[in-house]
Amino acid sequence: MWDPTTYLRFGDERSRPFHELLARVSAARPRAVVDLGCGPGTLTATLVDRWPDSRLTGLDSSAEMIARAVALDSPVDFALADVRDWHPGPDTDVVISNAVLQWVPGHRDLLVRWARELPARAWLAVQVPGNVDEPSHRALRAVAARPAWRDTLAPLLRKTTVDDAAGYAQLLTAAGCAVDAWETTYVHLLPAPVDTDHPVLSWLEGTALRPIRAALPAADWSDFRAELGVRLAEAYPVRQGQVYFPFRRVFFVARTGAPVEEKQ
Ligand SMILES: C[S@@+](CC[C@H](N)C(=O)[O-])C[C@H]1O[C@@H](n2cnc3c(N)ncnc32)[C@H](O)[C@@H]1O
Repeated sequence: MWDPTTYLRFGDERSRPFHELLARVSAARPRAVVDLGCGPGTLTATLVDRWPDSRLTGLDSSAEMIARAVALDSPVDFALADVRDWHPGPDTDVVISNAVLQWVPGHRDLLVRWARELPARAWLAVQVPGNVDEPSHRALRAVAARPAWRDTLAPLLRKTTVDDAAGYAQLLTAAGCAVDAWETTYVHLLPAPVDTDHPVLSWLEGTALRPIRAALPAADWSDFRAELGVRLAEAYPVRQGQVYFPFRRVFFVARTGAPVEEKQ
């Protein structure tokens, strides 16, 4: 279960990639724009200013996230849906998916399907975190491997692999798109007040730790959290009241091919 409040704790840091992704989409007056995995909808709602005449839709598979998005009372049409079942309409000129596909096994096939089903000259703009080899995720996997809970947690640990920018560029170029792909490592400076949880632990609670918390009994979760907190404090020491948290993200913007008559 997703908790919109916990997820939004680091709203500033989490929103920046969305804006940097959208900065590379030059659609002037798209007919329909869809945000796949829109989460709490706060970022989707900002699209109203950019494309006031477009039909805007936000889809997410979490009822909690969609409830939060609907409560924004924005002109965006928010609905519950799994991105794996989604097909673009004939007027879908822009598709955005920010920090979602790392949760979706088989998303490379989905991307190719979307690229083929979208109308000509449509935009497909995607960002995925590329941080599974960072100390934060290594620490999480090390704690999850403890005999006490490894059988419970092994099936939950994310198996979806995320490509690098060149991998997605090749995939979508082969599907007939013009591709702009890049990677960025942000260094988030997270405040670490004394006597509070380590900020990287708080960050992970909004995303990667969610399924683990849901799977463990309360006492085990408390032990898990405590041990992970110690490891994170070693990996990301507090300096001048903050921690330096590098976070790599992979971006790609694909534009579907020209209509057949333009190619002749
Ligand atoms: C890290 S949040 C990102 C939310 C939003 N895009 C943003 O940038 O703030 C990931 C979101 O992906 C959604 N999600 C994960 N798998 C999904 C799927 N198969 N279909 C639809 N949404 C999915 C989750 O429910 C969650 O809201």
